[in-house]
Amino acid sequence: AKITFITADNESITVEGTSGSVMELAVNNNIKGIDGDCGGVCSCATCHVHVEPEFVAKTGQAEELENDMLEFDDLTNEYSRLSCQLQVSEDLDGVVFKVAK
Ligand code: FES
Repeated sequence: AKITFITADNESITVEGTSGSVMELAVNNNIKGIDGDCGGVCSCATCHVHVEPEFVAKTGQAEELENDMLEFDDLTNEYSRLSCQLQVSEDLDGVVFKVAK
C-alpha cells in the first residue's frame, strides 16, 4: 500500500509498505516526528498521527487501550490514532496521515 505522511514542516512523503505497522513503516523511512519509542506496544504516543478526515473509514477508530494512551496527549482529536496500532495492508492504500507534533 502507498501511504502518505505529512510532517509538521508540511512536507508530504509517500512511502510503500506491505506489512508491519504504520509506525514501523514511518520509522524505517525516517518520517520526522514519528519515533515509536515504546516499540509499538501502545504506551508512548510518540507515534501519534491524525488521519486525514476522508480516510477515517479506511483506518477505523481507535480501540480502548489506544484511546487511554491518547488521552495523555494534548494534540489528540477525533482523528487521532497511534500508528503502531495500524497494520499496513492494501486496505490503507492512499491513506494520508498528518504527524501530530
Ligand atoms: Fe509507542 Fe505507538 S510506538 S504508542
